[in-house]
Amino acid sequence: MSVAAYLEKNKDRFLQELFDLLRIPSVSADPKFKGDVVAAANFVKNSLEKAGADQVEICETPGFPIVYGEKIIDPNLPTVLVYGHYDVQPADPYELWDSPPFEPVLKKTAIHPEGAIFARGAADDKGQFYMHIKAFEAMMATSDLPCNVKFMIEGEEEIGSDNLDKFVLANKERLKADVILISDTHMIGMDNPSITVGLRGMAYMEVEVCGSNRDLHSGSYGGAVANPINVLCKMIASLKDENEHITIPGFYEKVQELSAAQRQRLNEAPFDLSEYKGKLDIQDVHGEKGYSTIERIGIRPTLDVNGIWGGYTGEGAKTVLPSKAFAKISMRLVPDQDWHEIATLFETHFKAIAPASVTVKVKAHHGGAPAVVSDSSLGYQAAEAAMEETFGKRPIPTREGGSIPIVALFQKELGSDPILFGFGLDTDALHSPNEHYGVKNYLIGIETIASFFRHFSALQGK
Ligand code: BES
Ligand code: MN
Ligand code: MN
Repeated sequence: MSVAAYLEKNKDRFLQELFDLLRIPSVSADPKFKGDVVAAANFVKNSLEKAGADQVEICETPGFPIVYGEKIIDPNLPTVLVYGHYDVQPADPYELWDSPPFEPVLKKTAIHPEGAIFARGAADDKGQFYMHIKAFEAMMATSDLPCNVKFMIEGEEEIGSDNLDKFVLANKERLKADVILISDTHMIGMDNPSITVGLRGMAYMEVEVCGSNRDLHSGSYGGAVANPINVLCKMIASLKDENEHITIPGFYEKVQELSAAQRQRLNEAPFDLSEYKGKLDIQDVHGEKGYSTIERIGIRPTLDVNGIWGGYTGEGAKTVLPSKAFAKISMRLVPDQDWHEIATLFETHFKAIAPASVTVKVKAHHGGAPAVVSDSSLGYQAAEAAMEETFGKRPIPTREGGSIPIVALFQKELGSDPILFGFGLDTDALHSPNEHYGVKNYLIGIETIASFFRHFSALQGK
């Protein structure tokens, strides 16, 4: 039986199994779900074992475990390392979901006429890494596995992969591979397959602005004592100028500028601005002057407030000058910005712009390096050939705005090329209510992964 025939025969079960995984609320950020995150790790372990992997192990860390498994059929054959994450983002706000986030359902949408699976983690990343386990199962069951394979599925990606670095450094030999496959990104569209070759890095900060030592009556003190919320807003507003250029001294110093030719190639990717605006229901886009939307996302750094709070937000009106105000601020970085350096520049600047009427605390949460991967490696060629086979169209390389901090570490420490082999779409609502993943994307992904293994082994043999 061929992999395609096996897939056809088993596709309902492949969907049901993914549904079972999606029912586990493995939210790594929230201690309330600790047991569920561990349950998801066990689910992954069992899936790997059932699919035919050996040495399957739950590798404990100070945080959530990393699940490892492998199938070494012949040490002389090439080895593929698969990375993914079984943790998910919090599902809040629950009231904005049309169906409960951890009760997966199939629904048709305009973009997914064959149906999509709605659940937190459907596209990011459970639906995507599970494709690899199913492709592996199919290749094993049809005696069609042409490469060795290793799996490393972690549970802390959404909170910064703090413990993965150490695991990778301590297990370099065990993780040795000729290529690393990661399905945790998007394609341009079902009719426009693409392979991601760039990811932004990240520096995530939290700031506290403190005024008086207690909340004050806003009549008795208002206008005479600093209101930390007003001050914080002003400070944040000053972080970008009228061209949406970031004002932190030194921020752009290490930013790699692309050549005119490179920029032109990037902008040749299919992109329809009015369709983009239409899907988001916005009148206009907003970003750094002098750059297209594709460039703003792919090759330019940015700074965004992710949350801001303080003062009274309950029912009705309370007249108060709050004592403190807070914000969570993330900066997306591009090569060769270093997140530690950027975090320091931010802290120094943020403290420098604070008026004497307040005190400021700045803390760095987590960060990660940006990454650019080769679009000509053997792995890339195999991925290109595989997509061309299943989509009937040659994929193009793209740069995405999201971050997978561990990719740069893989490049540096494992020395093998990571291939960002994602099958989601940017409309899949990652991190948002009503996250979903197309059934067709899931199935074609499994087929394309199996095809990658064939092409990669053939190219290696040359
Ligand atoms: N899968 C995403 C990264 C991603 C999303 C890449 C869309 C390309 C396109 C990943 O799970 C993620 O959300 N990463 C975080 C990074 C992190 C340090 C919490 C992100 O990008 O915010
Ligand atoms: Mn992800
Ligand atoms: Mn994510």
